[in-house]
Amino acid sequence: MRDGILALAVETSCDETAVAILRGRDRLLASEIASQVALHREFGGVVPEVASRNHLVKIKPLIGAALKRAGEAISDLDCIAATRGPGLLTSLLVGYSVGKGLAIGLRKPFIGVNHLEGHLLSPFFGEPGGPTRSVGLVVSGGHTMLIRLEDVGVYGVLGQTLDDAAGEAFDKVAKLMRLPYPGGPAIDELARSGDPLRFDLPRSMLKSRDFNFSFSGLKTAVRYLLPKLELEDGVRPDLCASFQEAVIDVLVSKTIAAAKATRSELITVSGGVSRNSRLRVRMSEAAASEGFKLKLAAPPLTTDNAAMIAYVAVEQFLRGFKTDLSDDADPNLGLGPPINSAGR
Ligand code: KG4
Ligand code: ZN
Repeated sequence: MRDGILALAVETSCDETAVAILRGRDRLLASEIASQVALHREFGGVVPEVASRNHLVKIKPLIGAALKRAGEAISDLDCIAATRGPGLLTSLLVGYSVGKGLAIGLRKPFIGVNHLEGHLLSPFFGEPGGPTRSVGLVVSGGHTMLIRLEDVGVYGVLGQTLDDAAGEAFDKVAKLMRLPYPGGPAIDELARSGDPLRFDLPRSMLKSRDFNFSFSGLKTAVRYLLPKLELEDGVRPDLCASFQEAVIDVLVSKTIAAAKATRSELITVSGGVSRNSRLRVRMSEAAASEGFKLKLAAPPLTTDNAAMIAYVAVEQFLRGFKTDLSDDADPNLGLGPPINSAGR
């Protein structure tokens, strides 16, 4: 081991094939992503069989490309990591099997990483001291969760969505508005020139005294509104802005409440939806006015990538954790026990 361990991570939990090589906690030598967005766009969403077949085609060349970009030899790797779950089983199996195979062949430790932990810890990437006590909002296409972080590997789930994830709501509403998949970036862009006050849409569970979320009612409200509107140019940005504001009002308000309830000084926000420009501004304003520190995942680490998986692997390796090779990929892998709304 030279200056810091050398980790290679593979991520194939959904529709992005990704490989990263990380030296120590902060020297990202390569982060390759082969996006399948164009393939799935014609279906308006991810088709699991298409995704897994493409992971199989892409994974080996991508590992080669990552090693080349990093300028490292495969024999110099100190540990191999792969996403264990949650995600689409047929997609997970490709990266997880390749990761295990590499570890066995190279006789190196293997670390199976929880995809949610990858998102949760991504705002700490590059921090010299590693992750610290905080409340994390993980908001992606598959999950919307508030998590209390005590230390690496010590998490409690404060609340989560009871139906659609926030990113899923962005994607479904975009589809209703005939915008391209994935819908989040398209809505974000159109909303910049829209009026968030034009349409009064529901803020579900805003006043519930827990940290759970629900976004399917909001999506249905947009569905009922659409036939009454002509989707001419002026309406679309206003509808995007009004929908986005409704999602953000709930995300910001519940996150601040969770930080207060758990007496956390630090809030983190991660996952694909944390790339949203308006959410980043609103969360920054709210955290500053309520006296919380805030760490937002860096934009390239928000949507699925392998750098966040490599980062978790390094933090775990430094603590002596590794995964038994008999542990399988798990599409329903959870992240810590549920804890009550008082944060205990
Ligand atoms: O974290 P991610 O890449 O995959 C999952 O683990 O689910 O998140 C993908 C989700 C999609 O629903 C996508 O529409 C959303 O993140 N997303 C955004 C933005 N960029 C990506 N949502 C809102 N605004 C964005 N700028
Ligand atoms: Zn993700």
